[in-house]
Amino acid sequence: MKVIVVPNKDKMGAIGARIIAEDMKGRLFYKLGLATGSTPIPVYQELIRLNKEKKVDFSRVITFNLDEYVGIPGTHDQSYRYFMNKQLFDHVNIPKQNTNVPDGMAKNIPAHCADYESWMESVGGIDLQVLGIGGNGHIGFNEPGSSIASRTRQVKLTPETIRDNARFFAKAADVPKTAISMGIGTVLDAAKIVLFANGANKAAAIAAAIEGPVSVKCPASALQLHPDVTFVITKDAAANLTLKF
Ligand code: F6R
Repeated sequence: MKVIVVPNKDKMGAIGARIIAEDMKGRLFYKLGLATGSTPIPVYQELIRLNKEKKVDFSRVITFNLDEYVGIPGTHDQSYRYFMNKQLFDHVNIPKQNTNVPDGMAKNIPAHCADYESWMESVGGIDLQVLGIGGNGHIGFNEPGSSIASRTRQVKLTPETIRDNARFFAKAADVPKTAISMGIGTVLDAAKIVLFANGANKAAAIAAAIEGPVSVKCPASALQLHPDVTFVITKDAAANLTLKF
C-alpha cells in the first residue's frame, strides 16, 4: 500500500491526475473506474485541463462509475450520471457511449447489476479505479457490514446517508432509499486502485483503512488485500495515522 500525503486538495488533484495519465500511457483502450462526491472533483478538473492541453486523450477511454441512486433518472440534478456529465464527461473528448453509470431507472435491477458486471468483464476489467471514502469508511455505497466478496447490487441507504442527502432534494420523501453499487469484490478486481481523501472528517476512516484490521466495520480496510493501492490524502485526512509523513 502506498500513501502519498499532500498539503491540500489542489495538490491531491494534480497528483491524482498525474497517476491516471501515467497509467493511461501506451494503452490501446483504457478502462477507468470513477467515483462521484466532492473529493475527486480536483482530480477531474486537472484531467480536464490536461485534456484541453492535449496531454491526456479520452477518445479510447471507457468509464464505469461505482454507483447510482435508484429511482431517479440521469437527467435529475442529484443523479450521479448528471454529476459525471457536469464534472468530467461534458468537458473531455470521451465518446458518451463509452461512459457507464448504473441505471437507477432500470426495470429489472438485479439483471442490470449482472449486466454491469459482465460489461466490465467483457472489456477486460478496470485498469484503474478511483475511490473516495465515507466518514464511516464506506467505499461506493458499501456501508459498514458489507461483504468483502460483494458484487454490483442494489443496496439500502443507511438512515444517516438519507438524512445527509435530504438537503439536496425538495422534500425528505424524494430522497432515494436505495442505490446500485459495485461491491467490494468488484472494486478489488481492478488492476490498480487510487483512493482520495481530503479533510479532517476523513481522518478516523483513513487510519482504520490503512492501519486497522481488515474488518467489515471499515469497508475500505479491504483494500489492504489488494496488491496495488495508492492513497492520495491531505495532511488533515492523514492526521490519525501513527506512521508520520
Ligand atoms: C461516490 C462514492 C462515495 C464517496 C464518499 C465520499 O461515488 O462512491 O463512496 O466517495 O461518500 O464522498 P465525498 O467525496 O463527497 O466526501
